[in-house]
Amino acid sequence: MSLWKKTVYKSVCLSLALLVAVTVFQRSLTPNQFLQAPPPPTLEPQKAQKPSGHLVNPNSFWKNPKDAVAPTPMASRGPQTWDINITNCSVNVNLTHQPWFQGLEPHFRQFLSYRHCRYFPMLLNHPEKCHGDVYLLVVVKSVITQHDRREAIRQTWGREQETVGRGRGAVRTLFLLGTASKQEERAHYQQLLAYEDRLYGDILQWDFLDSFFNLTLKEIHFLKWFDIYCPKVHFIFKGDDDVFVNPPNLLEFLADRQPQEDLFVGDVLQHARPIRKKDNKYYIPGVLYSKASYPPYAGGGGFLMAGSLARRLHHACDTLELYPIDDVFLGMCLEVLGVQPTAHEGFKTFGISRNRNSRMNKEPCFFRSMLVVHKLLPAELLAMWGLVHGNLTCSRKLQVL
Ligand SMILES: *[C@@H]1O[C@H](CO)[C@@H](O)[C@H](O)[C@H]1NC(C)=O
Ligand SMILES: *[C@@H]1O[C@H](CO)[C@@H](O)[C@H](O)[C@H]1NC(C)=O
Ligand SMILES: *[C@@H]1O[C@H](CO)[C@@H](O)[C@H](O)[C@H]1NC(C)=O
Ligand SMILES: *[C@@H]1O[C@H](CO)[C@@H](O)[C@H](O)[C@H]1NC(C)=O
Ligand SMILES: *[C@@H]1O[C@H](CO)[C@@H](O)[C@H](O)[C@H]1NC(C)=O
Repeated sequence: MSLWKKTVYKSVCLSLALLVAVTVFQRSLTPNQFLQAPPPPTLEPQKAQKPSGHLVNPNSFWKNPKDAVAPTPMASRGPQTWDINITNCSVNVNLTHQPWFQGLEPHFRQFLSYRHCRYFPMLLNHPEKCHGDVYLLVVVKSVITQHDRREAIRQTWGREQETVGRGRGAVRTLFLLGTASKQEERAHYQQLLAYEDRLYGDILQWDFLDSFFNLTLKEIHFLKWFDIYCPKVHFIFKGDDDVFVNPPNLLEFLADRQPQEDLFVGDVLQHARPIRKKDNKYYIPGVLYSKASYPPYAGGGGFLMAGSLARRLHHACDTLELYPIDDVFLGMCLEVLGVQPTAHEGFKTFGISRNRNSRMNKEPCFFRSMLVVHKLLPAELLAMWGLVHGNLTCSRKLQVL
């Protein structure tokens, strides 16, 4: 009898062990992994000396499991949920006594004092957004007070679709937010936002101040979130909440693209120079960036990228110090990967024409032919959307300024 019990016990143990092994094996070798780039140390050889204990080379799994630094091969896949759940961000006191630091404008001092704090907890999350077959994820940078812009986007270019045809999956939309930048706005707006999120379920919110210089935080928080929750999403459109987007044109553009491509398309600037005039919104002091020009980058108003590139971008950005201008920072991450962003005429995020009074700014046929056009207030967006999608006759030929 006891022998029989032992045998049963043994076989149960054995099959359990087998099950665990098979699960680990399967999870560590999902098809996606082959599309992903190697972990950061091999992405950027010059930084390879950095210790990176948690990043096990997946290739070493078969060879020398005992030499691996981390206990399980799962570690190379990163966390399965948002793993930051406390805010522990204290001022970097190392800087305060440096003369160059004291000579900086207050907002640069604030930026540098908290630059080392990279990730914050989530206040509103939607892990289910990427469930199923999602072809295009539309993500929109927004701030807590701009609910009217979000509302206009939901009614227009942010409308979700269950399928876009030709075997392609769904289009889903999310808004990316931090917390209210003004103390007096915080309690009141936070409740409204929570209510808005209960209605629509489309808000991702992290616990950092939504300030101009923290937009880079929004960028890296989204990339980390995407890496965790969206392993199968094909493409991402990322944009501002004050642009006009033409989804049919985006989908047409993507039709013959592959999600594995190094696709990063937008309104690309080459050899842009850091602005040194102090009264400019984009002013950057020499101590923060001393080179004469930026790497190529796409204007943050709206750009398209492939899902697999976004996952690699997340790791590339993690090797860099934060830079206060978010779209330039993404250009720096792309440079780490050796990926060139591609310029496309249909992305007009730096303005349509130098002439503000150009009739192009009001011309629905022009908007219909574009992929992204900056800047419209919610009422203008709704009106233009109505015109573009109403019965509009446009000549085939369109002059682009
Ligand atoms: C926070 O995260 C740590 C490690 O990731 C975990 O041990 C801890 O239980 C978490 N705390 C809460 C309140 O979720
Ligand atoms: C927060 O950071 C401080 C200093 O960096 C450290 O002393 C403290 O233990 C940390 N607290 C938690 C909860 O991690
Ligand atoms: C401050 O300097 C110490 C010693 O060089 C270093 O260990 C620490 O990481 C620095 N703190 C920050 C926030 O960079
Ligand atoms: C960014 O957000 C963090 C967390 O809320 C805050 O401590 C920091 O001051 C903010 N930085 C800027 C430049 O606004
Ligand atoms: C276009 O709109 C006008 C006015 O609303 C209407 O009279 C006309 O029949 C419409 N044309 C088509 C092709 O729908």
